[in-house]
Amino acid sequence: MSDTKSSDTVSVTVNSTGETIELPILDGTEGPRVIDVRQLYAQTGMFTYDPSYTSTASCDSSITYIDGEVGILRHGGYAIEDLAEHSSFLEVCYLLLHGELPNASQMGDFEHTITYHTMVHDQLQFLYRGFRRDAHPMAVMIGVVGAMSAFYHDSTDISDPDQRLIASHRLIAKMPTMAAMAYKYSVGQPFMYPRNDMKYAENFLHMTFGVPAEDYEASPAIARALDRIFILHADHEQNASTSTVRLAGSSGANPFACIAAGIATLWGPAHGGANQAVLEMLEQIGSKDRIPEFLERAKDKDDPFRLMGFGHRVYKNYDPRAGVLKQSTYDVLEEVGIENPLLELAMELERIALEDEYFVERKLFPNVDFYSGIILSAIGFPTSMFTVLFALARTVGWIAQWKEMIEDPGQRIGRPRQLYKGYVERDFVPMDKRS
Ligand code: ACO
Repeated sequence: MSDTKSSDTVSVTVNSTGETIELPILDGTEGPRVIDVRQLYAQTGMFTYDPSYTSTASCDSSITYIDGEVGILRHGGYAIEDLAEHSSFLEVCYLLLHGELPNASQMGDFEHTITYHTMVHDQLQFLYRGFRRDAHPMAVMIGVVGAMSAFYHDSTDISDPDQRLIASHRLIAKMPTMAAMAYKYSVGQPFMYPRNDMKYAENFLHMTFGVPAEDYEASPAIARALDRIFILHADHEQNASTSTVRLAGSSGANPFACIAAGIATLWGPAHGGANQAVLEMLEQIGSKDRIPEFLERAKDKDDPFRLMGFGHRVYKNYDPRAGVLKQSTYDVLEEVGIENPLLELAMELERIALEDEYFVERKLFPNVDFYSGIILSAIGFPTSMFTVLFALARTVGWIAQWKEMIEDPGQRIGRPRQLYKGYVERDFVPMDKRS
């Protein structure tokens, strides 16, 4: 499914010279039309300017579609709500990698492949031991995932389709093992080996919360909720971390190095780090009577405080993932049997914010991170692990987007240009003449 060049064009006229050029318009299968500016520089010597990419399509892709105005997220045409309800994370991984949902035999093979790639090279554990115990697990993940390039030499030749696929399988399979190891190291417990008789999310819970001294039994409801969280985070088209992975990959860097770059980008509080920030914010607010005070701070331009888990570059409506997660939050809290005052607080904050003119005017709605932290903490994850879980789930999206880019015959290195605003040429001044 490639874009189609329509017969429609856009004319751009340079007022000072009267020069006019015609720019082609491309149509995807759905979504905004796109003005093709690729020949602009060659034709006019001018660049386009869009520093935060608010109006720029950086690539074409067939993996994920978002309509942020309506609140739609689809993978391969399937609504995220349906995938969360009816499929498993590994099914969604297959869909993202191959563009189609698997049939039963394809699913069996895929599950087997992923299961039998979950162990990591034994030497990798020594990398963990080089970190301080109080290192943030995201710092550890950036290091160990990048280091995979030094361990799996037989899947770093990006020109070989088989190696690309093996690298993709390895990343999907080993991320839970490596994420659980980051957690185990931080709490001073022994690393747990993966178990081949367990499903993906259950196995991750076992490696995180199990100990060698006794068997760990994950609650099926918790394993299902976690699997659903993974589905909801699997891909989100060209966000900051995915674009980073694509740009890193465009130079020909190996997939493990590219995913490490994605993890680094995800860490920021404006992106995946927001789930940790939401929980910290709710703890800081503390009680319902203090909500107005914090809302006022969020609205005050002189105060750096923002309502974490609210607002989104693309969604100008309720983030569909937040809707599914809100329901999952009730399910998990019921399962673990705890009354969580933070959930009450979050719901009240959401209610008040959604009635507030400031948030209504700016179309600021809860995003995926607003409820995920509450579920993850109810399951037992410390806040520092929240973004790691996001990275674990997003790895498939990153690798699918990377593969799609590498497999595009027209692929070239990504190289944005700039609007230069520095000095024009000037004479060198010797140090003894400088003020
Ligand atoms: N709290 C208060 N005001 C906000 C918030 C917020 N959370 N988000 C946006 N605004 C305001 C801005 O101050 C701005 O107001 P103005 O027009 O009066 O200047 C307006 O809404 C538009 O905001 P921008 O920052 O221009 O929007 P942008 O698209 O650049 O940022 C972002 C999106 C980074 C997600 C922002 O909404 C934010 O910081 N949210 C909190 C962090 C968060 O939850 N991040 C998770 C994103 S989802 C994800 O990565 C999975």
